Amino acid sequence: MAEADLDALVAIDAATPPPSWSREAFAHELSVAQSRPCVLEDGRRRVVGFLVWWRVLDEAHLQNVAVSGACRRAGHGRWLVRALLIAAARAGARRVLLEVRADNAAARSLYAATGFADVGRRRRYYADGEDAVLMARAAPRLGARAAFGGPRWAVAGRMRP
Ligand SMILES: CC(C)(COP(=O)(O)OP(=O)(O)OC[C@H]1O[C@@H](n2cnc3c(N)ncnc32)[C@H](O)[C@@H]1OP(=O)(O)O)[C@@H](O)C(=O)NCCC(=O)NCCS
Repeated sequence: MAEADLDALVAIDAATPPPSWSREAFAHELSVAQSRPCVLEDGRRRVVGFLVWWRVLDEAHLQNVAVSGACRRAGHGRWLVRALLIAAARAGARRVLLEVRADNAAARSLYAATGFADVGRRRRYYADGEDAVLMARAAPRLGARAAFGGPRWAVAGRMRP
């Protein structure tokens, strides 16, 4: 993720209400030492998705992930979460954690499909009164990298090391 990506990231994030991050919030991630942003591009170098996670001690925290509306259900979300899992394992994280709106069926299904389980709930966590569901899984063993397949068409991921 770089300054040049910001417009695309805000557009992707804003396309699914409620938008979660402003331009300033994305820009802030570029300056946070523990932030590990990843941008997914298609074969024409258009940004089609992003994922931001934080390394916190021996844990990885998924902060935000989204795929462009026109590109969903093509495996990109799964690719991004797998990229997170591999990167977290490489960084020495033992556990990967996230929180998700209870009413976000697509994201909860994506996380369940990538090995996360519900581990808690924060009542009325979001501004509109919706609950947050806490999900977690162990970081994969590094040998699991072999299972890291890409989406069906040409993409390139850029993740800050
Ligand atoms: C959640 C999101 C990132 C998924 O991205 P995606 O590229 O469409 O996901 P994938 O194609 O990789 O799907 C992987 C799995 O997730 C689940 N999934 C994805 N979208 C789904 C939907 N609309 N309904 C139900 N399950 C869904 C399925 O289990 C799917 O596996 P399958 O295709 O074999 O059935 C995308 O819907 C999105 O950007 N949503 C808006 C932002 C958001 O809510 N982010 C989460 C913040 S916590």
